[in-house]
Parts: sequence; C-alpha cells; structure tokens
Amino acid sequence: MKKIIALLLALIFAMSLVGCGDTNTKSDTETKATEAAKTSSIDYMAIVNKTHKLPDNWEKNLKTVKMTNSIKDKVEVEKKAYDAYLKLKADLEKEDIYVDLDSARRSVKEQQRIMDEFTEEYGADYAAKTVAKPGYSEHHTGLALDLYLIVDGKDVVENEDMIKYTDIWAKIHEKLADYGFILRYLDGAEHITGYGYEPWHIRYIDDIDKAKEITSKGVTFEEYLGTYTGGDVTVDYGKSKIYKEDDLKDAVIQIKCQFAFWDGCELKSIRYAGDEAVTDKNLKWLNKINPDGKYKEIAEFLMDFHSPKENNKTTLTTDKEYKDYQWWLAKDKDGGWEIVTSGYGEQ
Ligand code: DAL
Ligand code: ZN
Repeated sequence: MKKIIALLLALIFAMSLVGCGDTNTKSDTETKATEAAKTSSIDYMAIVNKTHKLPDNWEKNLKTVKMTNSIKDKVEVEKKAYDAYLKLKADLEKEDIYVDLDSARRSVKEQQRIMDEFTEEYGADYAAKTVAKPGYSEHHTGLALDLYLIVDGKDVVENEDMIKYTDIWAKIHEKLADYGFILRYLDGAEHITGYGYEPWHIRYIDDIDKAKEITSKGVTFEEYLGTYTGGDVTVDYGKSKIYKEDDLKDAVIQIKCQFAFWDGCELKSIRYAGDEAVTDKNLKWLNKINPDGKYKEIAEFLMDFHSPKENNKTTLTTDKEYKDYQWWLAKDKDGGWEIVTSGYGEQ
C-alpha cells in the first residue's frame, strides 16, 4: 500500500487539504481589513478570490445602497462603488452605451444558490470556472459589479449573449479606471484568477491612480498585489489516455491555489505523474483516506518547490530545493477535482 510518510510537511504549513481556499491562514488582506475595521472603513484594496475568503467582520463597516434595475431585480452595492458606477454609466451614455447592474453584493446564501443553479444547468466543471465558492466570492464585498448591456433598447443579460458584444465591452473597459474600477477576470488569465474571461465583472478599488496603473500594465489584481506566486512555473500535463489536458489543468489550479498558502515557498514545476498512478490500489487508498468522497477518478501530480530563502517559519530546511512532492487529487461528487492528500511517499 502506498503510504504518505511525510504528510507532516503539509501539516507544517497548517493548511487543510479539503479544497482550494479552505484555510484558516490569516492573510495580509485580512489583517489590513482588521485594521480598516478599527478606522471604520472597509479596505477597498481587499482581495477576495479562490484562496482569500471574505475578511472577517467585513460587514461591520460596509455601507451599501439598494437599487432596482431595468428588469426589476433588487441590487445591493457598496455606497462609494455605486456613486462611481453612476458616473461611469452617465459617461458611457454620452457614447450611446447603456448598461445596468445585474448583480453586485451577494450573501453567502445567494452565492450558493447561483452555484447550485450553474452546476445543474452547465455541470460542475463549468460552474467551478464561472462561479466562486460561497464565502470566496468578490461579490460578498459589495465592490464587485456585474454589468449587463442594453442594446437597441433590449436587455442583454445572459453571459453567452453578452460576451458577443466585444466592441461595446472594449469601450466600457477603456473608461473603468477613470472611475476607480478595474476589470477583474482578464482574458487569458484563468490560471491566475481561477476564472474564465468575464467582461461584465468590474471591481471598485476607490483609487483612480492605482486603477489606471493596473489597467495600463494589463495585469490581474492578484499580480498587482503580489499574491500570485506561480509566475515561472512549468506545468507538464504529460500524455494521458485517461484525462484531457483541460481536465488536468483544473486539477493544477487546485494545487496552485493550495500552494499559495505556503508562505515564502517558491513553486518551480508541477507535472502529471502519469496514468500508471491511476490504479485500483490507489483509488482504494484515497477512498480510505476520505470515505465520504466515494471517488471514482484520481490523479497524482509531482511538484518541485523551493523552501523559504529567509524568515523561514516552517520546519523545512531553509533555502532548499524540494523535488517530487506528491499531490493526490480525486474528482468529487460534482465532478470537480479536490486534493485528498499530499506529501512525500513511497510505492
Ligand atoms: N463570477 C464570479 C467569479 C463570482 O461568482 O464571484
Ligand atoms: Zn461577477
């Protein structure tokens, strides 16, 4: 039986392995938010993504307004973000571009409803790429706004319809920074943000200069804030006869999300360990680790990384190259990959 003999490593980092973003690690963002709470203001630069949940006590200083959109839905928005949105909207109207707010602040319950709806309609894989896990949606902040278009007097609300209006979105995106907004889920940056391109999802950061800098650099919010650590990572998906590359890509996103919590560690490479690891024996072993998983599909990945060069708060040797660290993933009941265990093992 395969044993993970150094699962300890994972424990060293005090992280849970139940899925991307499930961690108790207190991030800089959370610390800043706690500081912001003392000054009665929210942190407009807070990052909320697959690895950073909504900071604790966020609601304490959140001031929102409620509006009704053209399709009679009620939308709640953070107050300053709404004022900025109204200015952006007025500016766009001068160019005959009409937008409205589809969704802004969402409760965790509302996010769960959306997740369930998308999972049922499009399947779990698409839902995971499109909808944030409840608790980890930027929409919880009230600072993320989903726009919809009004074209020739008609409401264009569905994502698959909206995405076709590339010219209109380009004009909208040009103006965002002037009002303190950035585009959050850039085209081609799914490996960084964890989500596919969303031309409608804009984020208020309350700082026109920074918004302009982020936009002109063409970087994601993660890169701008330095929370993205996977820049020069080599990923080798191998030649699997079992899984398509896109499928394995989703698994790697989970690993990267989890690795983001390994303070001071630098990710070097990740590779699919090959179809040889997909055996009945390993399937049984992972089901034994988590019997609730009822796994049918599994995959192993191997990772090389470098331990912290300084300020090492882990029990890893400082400034050392670690090779072939194992990650074992399995598909959960909704068809998305989850990390079951990780560490050093022996066959
Ligand atoms: N669509 C974005 C990722 C969300 O659900 O928060
Ligand atoms: Zn959104």
